[in-house]
Amino acid sequence: MRLLAGLADPLLAPVEGLPKGAHVVQLACGTGELSLALARRRLDLRVTAIDVNPTVLDAGRAGAAAQNLPVEFRTMSMAGLDLADGSVDAIISRMGMFLPGTAPFDVVAREAARILRRGGPLSIATWSDLADSPYTRIGLSVLRRLLPEGAVPDMEVVFSESARPGAFEGYLTDAGFLDIEAEWFQWETEYPDFEAWWEFDAGFGALKPLFDSLSAGQRAGAREVMADMIEEHRTPSGGYRLPATARVITARR
Ligand SMILES: C[S@@+](CC[C@H](N)C(=O)[O-])C[C@H]1O[C@@H](n2cnc3c(N)ncnc32)[C@H](O)[C@@H]1O
Repeated sequence: MRLLAGLADPLLAPVEGLPKGAHVVQLACGTGELSLALARRRLDLRVTAIDVNPTVLDAGRAGAAAQNLPVEFRTMSMAGLDLADGSVDAIISRMGMFLPGTAPFDVVAREAARILRRGGPLSIATWSDLADSPYTRIGLSVLRRLLPEGAVPDMEVVFSESARPGAFEGYLTDAGFLDIEAEWFQWETEYPDFEAWWEFDAGFGALKPLFDSLSAGQRAGAREVMADMIEEHRTPSGGYRLPATARVITARR
């Protein structure tokens, strides 16, 4: 995913020193680009990527096959992992663990703690609020202008709870994680033209079903509103460059 590519380096740094054969699990992997990036760097690791959505896992398998990378994709909920206690050497997750709308944060933190061996690293990136999550913030705002009141869920509340200082860290502490460190990571993503941004913002994630529900007329209106809203991010070459901020959290079991 173009937006999240900039997050690979900070997330993979804590697991790159693992010994040969170590087992790394990515939670809520989507199409698994982060796992593929890890496998490219460390072909000797065992990498398992899990998600509840079989369709994205199929896309991940196709990507792994095309690049000849040994990543295993498994359908599984991070709220009930089919992995034995202490059987995993490291956990990574990029906008998966602690993503609003996925699974209860306390349950996911406990499951991660259960499968991770003592001392094993956890390395995750999360959005903290909508100000930091440009695609959800802009997409929500466009949808609200077009759909009747009440049709667009109140995601602001969920995201602002995520932004409560220490909220995510608290779930990790309660689950038994140690050495928890969190820092802000900022990066920018470029979209070569409006179409590339639209495909990304309307075509993925929690807002996709709402964009899909728009009539042809509403869709045309949504594109106009969207173009206005991202005008300030225009680059001299006619593309768009948008900033994003994530919280990168590392811990040890
Ligand atoms: C924003 S996407 C993740 C992006 C991906 N991690 C990446 O780095 O490109 C969120 C993912 O969470 C998955 N998901 C939602 N609920 C889940 C659950 N309970 N267990 C595992 N995955 C879940 C969705 O299917 C979706 O693929």
